[in-house]
Amino acid sequence: MAHPSIVILTGAGISAESGLGTFRDEGGLWAQHRIEDVATPEAFARNPQLVVDFYNTRRAQAHDATPNAGHTALARLQAEYDGDVLLVTQNVDSLHEKAGSRDVVHMHGQLDSALCGACSHRWSAPLKMTVGEACPRCSEPTARPDIVWFGEMPYHMDRIEDALSKADIFAAIGTSGNVYPAAGFVQMASYVGARTVEMNLDPSETVALFEETRPGKASVTVPAWVEDILGQ
Ligand code: APR
Repeated sequence: MAHPSIVILTGAGISAESGLGTFRDEGGLWAQHRIEDVATPEAFARNPQLVVDFYNTRRAQAHDATPNAGHTALARLQAEYDGDVLLVTQNVDSLHEKAGSRDVVHMHGQLDSALCGACSHRWSAPLKMTVGEACPRCSEPTARPDIVWFGEMPYHMDRIEDALSKADIFAAIGTSGNVYPAAGFVQMASYVGARTVEMNLDPSETVALFEETRPGKASVTVPAWVEDILGQ
């Protein structure tokens, strides 16, 4: 029997119970750092050491973190639905991969990857990046974290939009709905008649656009939702 095609979008909330900070919750990353100091191309040009240190700290935290039941449930769904699930994440940690997910679409980049600002070559980032690191391909001293900063284009949008145009189900998990284009995915899915569900600790900015909401912690709501989907 053909499975419904499912697009899942995750945000920082799915990694909260794995000990990684979110951005906009009480005491979150944007309470500790100004976005314009650590998460824009201008910030990197102005003070690359501050930016490199910010991502080195987050990379070390993510490196030591372990996936929670929310990540594990999504990996199980992908395995059982073999190819009919597109897992898109705004997160730059690799907890979905550590939980066994394959083919995770990192639309905001990822901490484990480094990018050359000159030739766009990508390679596996060392745990601690340094400023002025040489690109292994073009040798320019232009290595940077492979993170999509504010003002830059998210990655893989064509693939994401194509999947949304064919979605039967769209689920958003652990995201506040503050940042576009991700916050607009629910409208694109609704437009093609997909069922939409939000699983979030607090209602997101876009909660009114979802047909169904399952409030609570991802480690509880996501496994329950996956059980419901697999039981259909
Ligand atoms: N379970 C489920 N949801 C949770 C949990 C939890 N245990 N803890 C927090 N949340 C929810 C919060 O209610 C909030 O709505 O996760 C959401 C986190 O929102 P943000 O901190 O804004 O994170 P996110 O939506 O992923 O941010 C999007 O903004 O700063 C940029 O590029 C960055 O990818 C990030 C993007």
